[in-house]
Amino acid sequence: MRIRLRKNGPYVIESEDVALVDWNGVPYTIERRPVALCRCGKSAAKPFCDGTHRTTGFDGAEAAVPGPGGKPAGPTGAA
Ligand code: FES
Repeated sequence: MRIRLRKNGPYVIESEDVALVDWNGVPYTIERRPVALCRCGKSAAKPFCDGTHRTTGFDGAEAAVPGPGGKPAGPTGAA
């Protein structure tokens, strides 16, 4: 399984074999794939991303490997 952080956006789970359950173990209905989970905290459809991050100025550009001066590095080739 691979989870991709979209720059200034959600966590995207890049696998078809995903089950998302709540704290009681009850599964959420997954209507769209790949599954995008809200990372900004503003979605009205939590835990799913509903695109609200685009209008709130969410800054989520942390890279796995920081660039010079601690700034986020650019993409490393993954599309
Ligand atoms: S990351 Fe998309 S609405 Fe929060």
